[in-house]
Parts: sequence; C-alpha cells; structure tokens
Amino acid sequence: MVCLGNICRSPLAEGILRSKVNPEKIFIDSAGTAAYHIGEPPDPRSISVALKYGIDLRSQKARKLILRDFMKFDRIYAMDEHNYQKIISLAQNDDDKKKVKMILNEVTPAQNLSVPDPYYGGDQGFEEVYQMLEKACEAIANRLT
Ligand code: 4NP
Repeated sequence: MVCLGNICRSPLAEGILRSKVNPEKIFIDSAGTAAYHIGEPPDPRSISVALKYGIDLRSQKARKLILRDFMKFDRIYAMDEHNYQKIISLAQNDDDKKKVKMILNEVTPAQNLSVPDPYYGGDQGFEEVYQMLEKACEAIANRLT
C-alpha cells in the first residue's frame, strides 16, 4: 500500500486489509514515495478513525518505498495517480510495472480514481478515506481468499 507520506492513507489501507486476511499467509506492508515522515507513526487522525472501527495502527512506522519492494511484493497498490506514476518510474521492468495497481480500480475498474489526500483537511476527510479503503480492501480480500 503506497501513498505519499505513509502516514495517512497507506497505513489505513495496510491496517484494513490486514484485518480482512490471514496475516500468517499474506504479508501486507505500506510505504510512501516521499521521505518527509520516515520513522513517524501514522497521523493521529488516521489512528483515530481506524480505532473507531477496531483497527489499531499504532505500531506502524512510516518508511519510504525502496527498489527491493518490487521483489518482495506480488502487488503494489497506489493510493492516487501521482504516486502511481512515481512507483512506475521506479519499476525496473515490465514485471515490476504489472504489479502496480490503482487501489480504487478494485471497486471501480479501469477508472483510475484517486483516494484524496486528507492531510490538509479535517476529520471528515479521514472518515471518507476510511470508507473508500474499506470497500477497496474488501474487494482485494475477497479475491485473495
Ligand atoms: P499520505 O498524506 O500521503 O496519505 O500519508 C500526506 C502526508 C503528509 C504530507 C502529504 C500527504 N506532507 O506533505 O507532509
């Protein structure tokens, strides 16, 4: 799960998807394409909206996407178009590129819709992001299991 800062959207996607699969069978992680927040926990507003739905993000720590992630993961979900392009620009070959998907295409195929960046907004934005990611992760989990 990849966004820009790895403190708002992708930590939510990581936590939500993990809650829907067997974490012993499927390894899920998140990262950012930017380095601004490396080592920080998720934004308090992401922590809070997730806790409301019984998901605890407090052990997560922001990191930056690295090349090795293309080897380590079968799928890389981008939260938005900007980050999708950034991830694709890091890909080394077609196999790497094929792993990269826009996460909302899981719900609305081929539309390339973005999960809006809630960082500069209020709590309502985090609720909306949660609901979008809940639907997308449900679709991913159903396909995986
Ligand atoms: P995220 O949100 O990409 O969903 O983690 C953001 C977090 C931090 C910043 C921008 C977006 N920032 O500019 O610091």
